[in-house]
Amino acid sequence: MREDRITEASIRRLVDTFYSKVRADSTLNPIFSQAIGADPKAWEPHMQKMYDFWSSVMISGGRYQGNPLQKHRNLPTFDIKLFDRWLALFEETARQLHTEEIANHFVEKSKRIAESLKLGLYPTLPKSEK
Ligand code: HEM
Repeated sequence: MREDRITEASIRRLVDTFYSKVRADSTLNPIFSQAIGADPKAWEPHMQKMYDFWSSVMISGGRYQGNPLQKHRNLPTFDIKLFDRWLALFEETARQLHTEEIANHFVEKSKRIAESLKLGLYPTLPKSEK
């Protein structure tokens, strides 16, 4: 059954499923395991942050108090094209778990946030390479 509502539980499922795909992805996984580590315990704070982040974006603001741009700036530079992979896995997961209308809503938000992260991370890259 695909969820036709956004709830705390559906966000947890989305985030859990998405990050298990990220960790199985040979292009994205190295960046995450370098930043967070391989130990499942080390992933708990990241996952909690991501539940809070998506809950703030999709349900109601306030629970996530971080600064994603700064966090991503602190990572070793990675190829901007990896955003396409990140977004594709996110969209695949949203469509797998949610009905079309809700999935579209997640996809739209993820793309908008990715655009603003890209602008912040690669301010000097020509438009044609973004
Ligand atoms: C290729 C694209 C991306 C890569 C490689 C990436 C990688 C990472 C990594 C490694 C972290 C953990 C940083 C740490 O704890 O030190 C992180 C955190 C985070 N990412 Fe991304 N990310 C990408 C795209 C995105 C997008 C598109 C979004 C939102 C739609 C996003 C939202 C976040 C948030 C909210 C955090 C938590 C920041 C915090 O600790 O407060 N990321 N990301």
